[in-house]
Amino acid sequence: GGFFRTVRRTFYVIALGSLGTYAYFVYQGRHPPDQLPQDPTKKTIVVLGSGWGSTSLLKNIDTEEYNVVVISPHNYFLFTPLLPSVTVGTLDGRSIVQPTRHTTRFKTREVKVYEADCEYIDPVNKTVTFEDCSEIKGSVSKVTIPYDYLVYSVGTENQTFGIEGVKKHACFLKELNDAEKIRARLIDCVESAAIKGQSDEEIDRLLHMVVVGGGPTGIEYAAELRDFVESDLIRWYPEVANKLRVTLIEALPNILPMFSQTLIKYTESTFKENSIDILTKHMVKDVDNRDVLVKTPSGEEKKIPYGLLVWAAGNTARPLTRQLMASLPEAQKNRRGLDVDDHMRLKGAEDSIFALGDATATQFAPTAQAASQQGAYLARVFNQLARLNLLEGKLEEAKKNNADASELSGLERQIEKAAKIRPFKYSHQGSLAYIGSEKAIADIPLLGNNQIASGGVVTFMFWRSAYMSMLFSLRNRSLVAADWFKVFLFGRDVSRE
Ligand code: FAD
Ligand code: NAI
Repeated sequence: GGFFRTVRRTFYVIALGSLGTYAYFVYQGRHPPDQLPQDPTKKTIVVLGSGWGSTSLLKNIDTEEYNVVVISPHNYFLFTPLLPSVTVGTLDGRSIVQPTRHTTRFKTREVKVYEADCEYIDPVNKTVTFEDCSEIKGSVSKVTIPYDYLVYSVGTENQTFGIEGVKKHACFLKELNDAEKIRARLIDCVESAAIKGQSDEEIDRLLHMVVVGGGPTGIEYAAELRDFVESDLIRWYPEVANKLRVTLIEALPNILPMFSQTLIKYTESTFKENSIDILTKHMVKDVDNRDVLVKTPSGEEKKIPYGLLVWAAGNTARPLTRQLMASLPEAQKNRRGLDVDDHMRLKGAEDSIFALGDATATQFAPTAQAASQQGAYLARVFNQLARLNLLEGKLEEAKKNNADASELSGLERQIEKAAKIRPFKYSHQGSLAYIGSEKAIADIPLLGNNQIASGGVVTFMFWRSAYMSMLFSLRNRSLVAADWFKVFLFGRDVSRE
């Protein structure tokens, strides 16, 4: 009796404690404190973008010594690793975004956030021009502001290789509304296939889901789609769902080139079990509203009819990035993206522009992992510069007040230390990808150079918990957990918004 009572009491104490802690953080998250106003005597940092690079910078920067301004056409941060789950309704789109103001309102000094597109950067006069491109505008929509430092992290846009039909007919998977559009189109294809009198040929086309690109985006999307069909569509659309086919087209001889051979083989066999066809060495040449035109390994051209086409063929520099490069023609010659030095300073504008993430061309893969580490690094650089500035001010003051030699040399030593800014160092935490049927693949570097390559259900649990721990806020963690639980209980919703 005594033992069980103690266990029960301990349980109650732990449960109450956890609930109390949760409630405390929820309360904190909803009650941002008062902030210092922006101060015209401080330097201005303009941050372009609200994605991985920028948000990581905003989380880590000490705003006391700076006036920070954020400009992005999206007033939120999107947790891209879970975006494929939104295409089939496993997760609600709102669960994986964090309003930028939820980050900036917790900084010591007020941070200005403008929902607008940066249209022009003048690196000589140090100004940016941005425009409110949303549907509703006030009388002011185009504005130019000066900066002391510019942080450029606007990511990339989808690579279409100039194929007109891609922009017109395919869906991408980059932004939140892309994922929502895919979901709506998918249900639309299924509903149209179910209409009375539809010919077999047309049913076949409408239910053919084609994914172009065997990189992680294409693979994860195809995996989520297959899960949706197997666990939900089959039940609610028995007459059509078993005719649904998924084909993944990849130009190279292999899918997932960044993963090890073992994991590529494991993914291929999982896809085979799940009847996802992989066409490697097939290059998409053209797209119209019903067919994709591919060049097969033998060199002939073939039309593949589709109902839904998801284009995940990689990324390319945004027009703004090209324009910035063109304004620094001597220093910016890399066609892949912005050239930066090992301190993330933009070559040609080292004193004032820093560039992060996918917009840059570095030796690191264009991943969230690299962008967020670069953002955190740059925040530390700014914090160190602020410290340096303060120390220099103190030294000047001390000199004016004829301070003694030991105080002056102490300050000089501190200044020397603060002036040493270390270069950016990337630490690879591993690569993870979801491949369907509750399986994931992981390539995780352990001590030294050993790689653990693992796949399967345990890796899937690891995949879920890793993303759970990476999600920036308690709110997002709670929403994602609730979505997973909802789908576990009721399955995914098959209605179209
Ligand atoms: P982004 O995060 O793309 O942010 C760019 C920001 O710039 C956005 O806020 C955008 O609104 C803004 N912007 C655009 N134009 C302008 C403009 N003119 N002016 C101002 N702002 C502008 N990486 C991983 O490491 N692991 C993963 O599991 C993973 N999964 C992914 C899944 C998907 C579906 C996708 C698409 C990508 C995934 N990635 C993953 C890659 C990762 O998302 C990118 O590498 C990362 O987003 C790059 O960060 P960034 O800051 O450079 O750009
Ligand atoms: P990607 O560039 O990695 O892959 C695109 C693929 O499309 C390439 O394999 C390319 O050969 C193929 N392709 C291009 N044009 C084609 C054509 N015309 N016909 C057929 N195939 C064609 O792009 P992706 O997958 O969007 O990834 C971008 C970045 O984001 C990568 O760095 C990736 O590591 C990262 N990412 C990471 C994820 C993860 O770790 N789980 C998930 C998603 C993205």
